[in-house]
Amino acid sequence: MPATASVHFDPRDPAFVANPYPVFDHLRATAPVWKAPFGRWFLTRYEDCNLLLRDRRFGKDYTAPDALKQRFGPTALQEPAVVELTHMMLMRDPPDHTRLRGLVTKAFTARRIEALRERVRAMADGLLDQVMTAGRMDAIRDLAFPLPVMVICELLGIPEADRDRFVKGSTSGAPLLDPRPPTRAELDAANFGTQASGLYFEALFEQRRREPRDDLITQLVQAEEAGDRLSTAELRANVNLLFAAGHETTVNLIGNGLAALLRQPEQWRILRDDPSLIPNAVEEILRYESPVQAVSRMLAEPVELSGVALDRGELLVALIGAANRDPAMFADPNRLDVTRKNPNPLSFGGGIHFCLGAQLARIEAAEVFGVLLRRIPGLRLAAPDRVAWRPSFALRGLMELPVAWG
Ligand code: HEM
Repeated sequence: MPATASVHFDPRDPAFVANPYPVFDHLRATAPVWKAPFGRWFLTRYEDCNLLLRDRRFGKDYTAPDALKQRFGPTALQEPAVVELTHMMLMRDPPDHTRLRGLVTKAFTARRIEALRERVRAMADGLLDQVMTAGRMDAIRDLAFPLPVMVICELLGIPEADRDRFVKGSTSGAPLLDPRPPTRAELDAANFGTQASGLYFEALFEQRRREPRDDLITQLVQAEEAGDRLSTAELRANVNLLFAAGHETTVNLIGNGLAALLRQPEQWRILRDDPSLIPNAVEEILRYESPVQAVSRMLAEPVELSGVALDRGELLVALIGAANRDPAMFADPNRLDVTRKNPNPLSFGGGIHFCLGAQLARIEAAEVFGVLLRRIPGLRLAAPDRVAWRPSFALRGLMELPVAWG
């Protein structure tokens, strides 16, 4: 099949959102480097996606005005949420990326993150305490969503009294990561979210300038004050990035993982009988139901991929969720197997943008599964037929997950 052949692939189609994997399998088998009618190239092979993540010819510089307009439409440069994106390390190439990431990496030392493990466990226990006697909960609302918000707030230094507003906050920026251009309504919501959180963070930066504390925001504010290494816009955008990345993905690792384990209860039982398999199960869950399904790059120079010649300036999307189920890489890829040896998925990306919070996310998921297996070994789905996925594509997660016990 030629690279531009017609394939029914609509990331907004509810049937696709419910189960994208048959479309991914079809694309990978017939047109592994495929151009969608809306202009982007989609990669479905593990090898190609891996190359896109690690090879410098696949860049991130969306900040050129033409690139922004191509991606977000003619009003791109007037949209606060788009302008905010351009200041995030996630969207920058070196040398800006190196500078921004270097400043934040210092706070993400393995030791500091590992030291959070006990706190994470206590938080998970505390959240469960609130629902134990009810015999049921919505595992998203009551556990998978609040826990990562609490953790990232603690790491950043967002005061406890302010956390409620974040716990209730929306995921308004997510559609901007989707491969299809956002709608006007989505852009409006993202702009509103950016401006509201920007105002909040600026007030918090001011407080930390006056009264420094032992938290990440203080550390970044001091870097900003130390000279020209971090502009105010960059400070705000990267704190926003950390906050959003810190919870919008981890909620889905916990939620998708729990749903997958309870839908295949023999896998839950394997973990119950041998909790030492939990870290491996987290990797397998990341592979099987990747919370981040797609990442984009722009070609800095011509490249040939799987026999398809691609020009400089083309926008490419690596379908991580497809790469993670490539039969050339994984035996029986559509099967969840918590005992699979070294799953090694692409779910945290790779190369210079490899997820900064990967270890934190792994700890959060492992601790939540550990606490649930210990305290509620007989956990089950309360509404097995009710499955409501978020209408987003790049981030894959459930809106609710009713579970019960007792
Ligand atoms: C299961 C949870 C998570 C998943 C699946 C995930 C996935 C990813 C992926 C795929 C990327 C690379 C994007 C690209 O190459 O374009 C990334 C980057 C990033 N992630 Fe995560 N992430 C998770 C949790 C977190 C957490 C908890 C934090 C922070 C506390 C975080 C912070 C970041 C940051 C700052 C970047 C940008 C790094 C850079 O551009 O150099 N992530 N993440």
